[in-house]
Amino acid sequence: MSAKATTDADIEGMRRAGRLAASVLEMIGEHVKPGVSTDALNDLCHRYIVDEIDCVPAPLNYTTGRGVPPFPRSICTSVNHVVCHGIPSSKKKLRNGDILNIDVTVIKDGYHGDTSKMFMVGKTQAFAERLVRVTQECLYLGIEAIRPGATLGDIGHAIETHAKAHRFSVVEEFGGHGIGKIFHDDPHVMHYGRPGTGSGIEQGMTFTVEPMLNAGRRHIKILPDRWTVVTRDHKLSAQWEHTILVTRNGAEVLTRRAEEAFGQIAGHAADATA
Ligand code: MF3
Ligand code: CO
Ligand code: CO
Repeated sequence: MSAKATTDADIEGMRRAGRLAASVLEMIGEHVKPGVSTDALNDLCHRYIVDEIDCVPAPLNYTTGRGVPPFPRSICTSVNHVVCHGIPSSKKKLRNGDILNIDVTVIKDGYHGDTSKMFMVGKTQAFAERLVRVTQECLYLGIEAIRPGATLGDIGHAIETHAKAHRFSVVEEFGGHGIGKIFHDDPHVMHYGRPGTGSGIEQGMTFTVEPMLNAGRRHIKILPDRWTVVTRDHKLSAQWEHTILVTRNGAEVLTRRAEEAFGQIAGHAADATA
């Protein structure tokens, strides 16, 4: 079964969770600067999530149940060659030129909102900025492929095609996921694929799109902490993520930030109610 918002209450619950997750990324931006530790960013987000917006940080103590220890922090912070699932640490201080992904998942009234964005620390190099920009474009192109009747392969194909055009590689071991009352649900949303393949997309489905692009080769490895995913060649990696709701004729971006213009992609704003 795929994650699906079947009632108006489900849709409103997912909208609220999505908006609140986005607000965490809006809050933290001004704190991202050289000298700040990723653990300090975690603490600011944790306090905000618990005290200001009255949510539960889904990553904290999250388990995958395969002999992996519970995730020990409230957000993921992935710097430079860290692909995803970086663990905030007081020893990891941001430096001028770093690129950083902050990935936030909040639970509100049982519903999950999951979103991440890239931050540039101080003055970043042009090639790093290009990777970050193209990865965000991949996210948007993937979302634009979403509509009832399209397939998950259409999303992956849109992402893979744009990444390859810029000679970046797509990480294959991790993908987007159904989301709702469950954090990681069916379907698995691959960031590569062939048009018209994979499961059909239906109105009411809620899932994430969260492409990871590498500047070098696609291969990854997992560090002994069992969480941190890094590029094998230690070249840079970038990721952006949104939670979306499939509407009558497109996708509503539930985790949209104020800095993003769209509310609905591939459809009309007037149709934003699913
Ligand atoms: N937020 C991540 C995702 O996009 C999952 C993080 S799981 C954690 O799916 F335990 F590492 F936090
Ligand atoms: Co996710
Ligand atoms: Co996430």
